[in-house]
Amino acid sequence: MCGIVGYIGHRDAYPIIIKGLQRLEYRGYDSAGIALYDGSDINLAKTKGKVEDLKKKAEAEIALNGSLGIGHTRWATHGVPNDVNSHPHYSNSGDLVIIHNGIIENYESIKKELVKRGYKFHSDTDTEVLVNLIEEVKKKENVKLGKAVQIALNQVVGAYAIAVFDRKKPDEIVVAKLGSPLAIGIGEDEFFIASDATPFIEFTNKSVYLEDEEMAIVRLGKEIKLRKIKDDAIAYPLIQELQLNLEEIEKGGYDHFMLKEIYEQPRAIKDTFRGRLRTEQGIIKMAGVDQNIEKFLNADRIIIVACGTSWHAGLVAEYIFEDLVRIPVEVEYASEFRYRNPVITEKDVVIAISQSGETADTLAAIKLAKEKGAFVFGVCNVVGSSIARETDAGAYTHAGPEIGVASTKAFTTQITVLTLLALKLAKHKGMFSEDKFHEFLTEMENMPAKVERALQSNALVEIIADVYKDSENCLYLGRGFNFPVALEGALKLKEISYIHAEGYPAAEMKHGPIALIDEHMPVVVIAINKGHYEKVVSNIQEIKSRKGKIIAVVTEGDEQVKELADHVIEVPETMESLSPLLTTIPLQLLSYHIAVMRGCNVDQPRNLAKSVTVE
Ligand code: F6R
Repeated sequence: MCGIVGYIGHRDAYPIIIKGLQRLEYRGYDSAGIALYDGSDINLAKTKGKVEDLKKKAEAEIALNGSLGIGHTRWATHGVPNDVNSHPHYSNSGDLVIIHNGIIENYESIKKELVKRGYKFHSDTDTEVLVNLIEEVKKKENVKLGKAVQIALNQVVGAYAIAVFDRKKPDEIVVAKLGSPLAIGIGEDEFFIASDATPFIEFTNKSVYLEDEEMAIVRLGKEIKLRKIKDDAIAYPLIQELQLNLEEIEKGGYDHFMLKEIYEQPRAIKDTFRGRLRTEQGIIKMAGVDQNIEKFLNADRIIIVACGTSWHAGLVAEYIFEDLVRIPVEVEYASEFRYRNPVITEKDVVIAISQSGETADTLAAIKLAKEKGAFVFGVCNVVGSSIARETDAGAYTHAGPEIGVASTKAFTTQITVLTLLALKLAKHKGMFSEDKFHEFLTEMENMPAKVERALQSNALVEIIADVYKDSENCLYLGRGFNFPVALEGALKLKEISYIHAEGYPAAEMKHGPIALIDEHMPVVVIAINKGHYEKVVSNIQEIKSRKGKIIAVVTEGDEQVKELADHVIEVPETMESLSPLLTTIPLQLLSYHIAVMRGCNVDQPRNLAKSVTVE
C-alpha cells in the first residue's frame, strides 16, 4: 500500500525518484507525486493517476533539478484518489514536506486540535495532519526536525513509513517506521530511501531495513544513526548486502510481469528446493525447521494464518499435512483470526504465509499467536520483510521478486516449501517407508520439468480464453487437494479481468451453485485422474446436462473427460498431493489471457495493491 522513495546525495534526484516510483508502482497506483529541493526552494508536482502521468506533469510544470527529493505512489486510504490528496504534503508554513505509507488512526482528533490552533487543511488525508503536527511540535518545543518527528510520532496511533524534510535544513531527510516497510540504501556520500530495495539496486547493494518504532536522520556527510521512537534509545543499524539484481525486476521481453512470473515458475520452484531437497542422501534440510524440530513434532495442531492467494496455499497445505503428517490443521484468514478470541496454546505451531511479508493482518495474527505462547513459523518471499523478522523461525520461498499484483509464482513456491516441510515432518514421525519418502523426493525433483510441460498449454489456453473472454461469470470446481486450486483460479480471474468468478468444492455444486448453470456459464473443472476422479466426472455430467460450458484440466492421456468437456487442457501425471503445482498453471494462464483480451491492466488491476500494509 503506497510506495515511498527518497534521495539525498550528489546526483539528480528526479530520475532516481521517478524510476524508483515506477518500480514500486505495484504497491499502489491511484496517484503519485514528487517534491524536489532545487537549492533554494521546493518544487512539487502531484496528480491522480500513474507515475507516467506524474512524469508528464512534472516535466511540463516544475523545475527538475536538485539532489534532494521524495516521491510517492499511492493506494488511497483516507480521501479519494485526486490531485489534492496525493502525496507529498506540505505543512502550513510550506517548510516541511512529507510522504507517508500507512494510516494514522487518530488523525481526526489531532486535526481538531490543530484546527483550533489555526492550522488549515487542504486535503482529506491523515498525512497532511501528521506533517502539521510535526510542524506544531517543532515550533512549540523549539526543537529540530528529527526531535519534532519523534515527539509527534509518540502522539499518533497507527502505522507509518514516512520521509520528511525541511526546506530550511536541506541536508537531511528524517525517516521513521511502524508497521509499514522502509529501507535505506547507503551509497558513497548519498542515501536512498524506499519501501523496498528495488529503487536503488543499481546504485548500492548496502541497505538497512528499519525495524518497527525506529527512526533515522539521513544526513549528508554523516553515518546513519537510528533511534527508538519511544524512548530515544540508540539502535544499531544492521547493514545488509542485497541479493537482488536488476534483471530480476525487469520484464525480460514479456509483455507483462504476470506472464514473466508465470513462466518463471519452473526456475522458482527449483530455487525453492535449492540446498533443501537432497534426494540422494534421502533428506530435506530446512534450517528453521531443524533448529525447532521438537516444536513441530510435539505440536498438537498447526494453525495456518494468511490472506488471499497465500491463504489458498495454506489450504493446499492443510490437505498435505493432514494426509502425510496426520496432524490436525486449521487454516485461518488472518483478518478473522486476529479479531476473534482464538484458542491458541503453547502446543500450537502457527505457520504464517505471506509473499510480501508485510501484510498487516497476517502480521497482527502473528503477534497475537506469539503473545499466547505459540511457536510461529513464517513462509515469506521477501527477504528481511516484517513477517520474516517477526516470526520465531521460517523458510523463504526464494521465488524472486513478484511484481505483478496477481500472485503466481509466490503461490507455487509457497506450496513447494510447505510440501517440503510436510515431507520432512512425516519422515521424522515415521509416517512412511524410506522407499515412499524417496519416491516423493524424486517426484518433487521432477516438478520443475513438469511445470514446464504444463506451460506448453499456453497456446491452447489462449484459444479457450478467446471463447470465454466476454463471459460475465465463471465457476471453478475442484476436489480434495485441488479444491483450493479452484478457489485460486477464481480469484485470479476476478482480480485481473473483473469477471465474477467463484470457486467451489465440486460436490458442493449441487447445494446451490448448480442453479447458475446454463449455456452461458463457463465452468472450469479440475479433473485429474487421481483421488475422486469418478465423482468429478459425475459432476461434469451434471454440468453438461444443464448445458454449462466445460473447461476441464485433466491428466495427460485422459479419455473419459475428453468425451464430455468442451475443452480439455492436459497437465502431466503426478501424485495427487503434488498435483496443485501443475493444475494451477493453466488457470493462471487462462486468467492472464482473458484479462489481456479484455484490455485490463494485468499487472496493476484496479483497486488492488501488492502488499496490503493496512487492515
Ligand atoms: C492475489 C494476491 C493477494 C495476496 C494477499 C496476501 O493474487 O496477490 O490475494 O495473496 O494480499 O499477500 P501476501 O502473500 O503478501 O501476504
